[in-house]
Amino acid sequence: MSETFEFTLKATDGNARLGAITMPRGEIRTPAFMPVGTAGTVKAMYLDQVRDLGADIILGNTYHLMLRPGAERVARLGGLHSLIRWQYPILTDSGGFQVMSLAALRQIDEKKGVTFKSHIDGSVHHMSPERSIEIQGLLGSDIQMQLDECVRLPAERPEIEKSTEMSLRWAERCRIAFGDQPGKAMFGIVQGGDIPDLRIRSARGLADLDLKGYAVGGLAVGEPQDVMLAMLETTLPELPTTKPRYLMGVGTPDDIIKSVARGIDMFDCVMPTRAGRHGLAFTRRGKVNLRNARHAEDLRPLDEESDCPAARDYSRAYLHHLVRANESLAGMLLTWNNLHYYQYLMQGIRAAIAEGRFADFVGETHQGWARGDI
Ligand code: GUN
Repeated sequence: MSETFEFTLKATDGNARLGAITMPRGEIRTPAFMPVGTAGTVKAMYLDQVRDLGADIILGNTYHLMLRPGAERVARLGGLHSLIRWQYPILTDSGGFQVMSLAALRQIDEKKGVTFKSHIDGSVHHMSPERSIEIQGLLGSDIQMQLDECVRLPAERPEIEKSTEMSLRWAERCRIAFGDQPGKAMFGIVQGGDIPDLRIRSARGLADLDLKGYAVGGLAVGEPQDVMLAMLETTLPELPTTKPRYLMGVGTPDDIIKSVARGIDMFDCVMPTRAGRHGLAFTRRGKVNLRNARHAEDLRPLDEESDCPAARDYSRAYLHHLVRANESLAGMLLTWNNLHYYQYLMQGIRAAIAEGRFADFVGETHQGWARGDI
């Protein structure tokens, strides 16, 4: 495997891109979906299963891991890969976004970074851009994210502008803190809310920093899908075509397909795992809510043609019962089904781009969802 971090573009179809990132811990086929392993576990799954479903990389969270079990402790225990028994690439989010959504009493100071109270025990913590990179290094993360601030939409221009400029300056500080690590990468994060000129300014500012990859942040935070897609159309032409582009925290299967069509290479989202734990299944025939009483005596599986045992071998009636009875197995089977579906979708996307039939693939996929599950 490659000693250095390299991104190769293998084919394009319209704006959709097929590629691969190679790095010491493995190859990431793009477009890629990264299952979320927030606290050192992809909830309700064995990592061997996650790998077998086709995941080349998983995501971990600086915020959660710094609070519990602690970054220095993870380092003493041999790093995240060995602790959780996942030898392939790990991307870590920088923490700013999770502080904003989870912690109490958050304060932001450009120089010092964020100060917040832990949602676990109320203890007070500080995280500067440099400390975020230090923590991600202690965890052993392969792809590290800059510390940024993500403004929730709707918001007024002055607030978005101030935060976008600060995130840009934090990107530079993170780049310096990260230094030169040939087998690893630090990605910048484009912000700018829903304001096109701020998105362009952010993307150009980050492009000037010549980073190894670029994320688009601050989306799927309450805006309609067409606004998100318009922001991608504004942002992506400003980023170098030779570097991977990662859309953070997105999304539904439909969001993913439409974002690939605009040139996104990487995704992460809690959708398949979280929805699975709440009784919702993603399938080739659309979404199925197993909590619904109509499944109570339905002996059909979720998808008899699926390669995934969770989709193929268990009846909807049984899944419905497990969901209603709050059994752990419900979350396990539905998460398995959902991560399988997401990786199946990504594999289909990659094959379609390779064969120059991405538009047809999109049409067929939408037709499948529209047919419904009965
Ligand atoms: N996850 C989803 N959106 C964002 C974002 O804007 N920034 C960061 N750091 N993580 C995210």
